[in-house]
Amino acid sequence: MPLPDLVKPGNQVPQATATYAAAPRRLIIAITGATGAIYGVRLLETLRKLGGVESHLLVSSAGWLNIQHELQLSKDDLHALADVVHSVRDVGATIASGSFATDGMIVAPCSMKTLASVAHGLSDNLITRAADVTLKERRRLVLMVRETPLNLAHLRNMTAVTEMGGVIFPPLPAFYNQPASIDEMVDHTVLRVLDLFALGPALAPAWAGLRGAPTD
Ligand SMILES: Cc1cc2nc3c(=O)[nH]c(=O)nc-3n(C[C@H](O)[C@H](O)[C@H](O)COP(=O)(O)O)c2cc1C
Repeated sequence: MPLPDLVKPGNQVPQATATYAAAPRRLIIAITGATGAIYGVRLLETLRKLGGVESHLLVSSAGWLNIQHELQLSKDDLHALADVVHSVRDVGATIASGSFATDGMIVAPCSMKTLASVAHGLSDNLITRAADVTLKERRRLVLMVRETPLNLAHLRNMTAVTEMGGVIFPPLPAFYNQPASIDEMVDHTVLRVLDLFALGPALAPAWAGLRGAPTD
C-alpha cells in the first residue's frame, strides 16, 4: 500500500509556525456573575497599562448584570479595555483550542456555578471550555471564587480544581499593608494574582517583615 505523502522518505517534517522569540504573551480574563466585577475590570486595566500581554475577554450573562449593577460600565467601555473580546457562546473561538497558545486564564470573579462547571469538566460555554483547555494544557488557571458562607459542594469543587492544578484565589483583602481605600485593596489583590503568572518582574510590593516584632 503506498505511504501517505507526509511519511514518504525524504519528506520534510511540517514546519513550525513561529519562533520562540516572537511568541505572544496572552491572558484570558473571564468575568462571571459573582459579586466583585471590579476585579476583572482592574485586571484588564492593569494589563493595558503594563503592555506586552494580549488580553482575551469573556463575560457571562450574569457577569454583565453585575458589571452594570456594581460599576455602571457600558459594554463598549468594557470591551475597549481588552485586546480581543469573545462571546461566551462562541465555542469555536481560538481560545477553545489548546493549539492557541496562552499564558493562562483568570476568572475574576468566579461564581460557584462556573467553579462547579470547571470542577466537573463540563465545558458548557466558552468560559468553562477555555478553563478546561487551560487545565488540560497544564497552563496556569486562577479562579477568584467568591461566595460566603461556603457549602460542602463549593468546598469540594475548590478541592477538585486544586487537584487538577488550578489555583483557588478568593479575592480577600489583605490588611497588613494598611490600605487607605477600596481601590488599594483591589489593586493589591490584582497584582498578587498577576504575579502568579510570572510574566515579568514581581508587581506586588514584597513584604519587608515586621520591624520591632519580638523574635522569640
Ligand atoms: C447581584 C448578584 C450577586 C451575586 N453574587 C454571587 C456571588 O458572590 N457568588 C456566586 O457564586 N454567585 C453569585 N450570584 C449568582 C450568580 O450570578 C448565578 O449563580 C449565575 O447563574 C452565575 O452564572 P455564571 O457563572 O455563568 O456567571 C450573584 C447574583 C447576583 C444577581
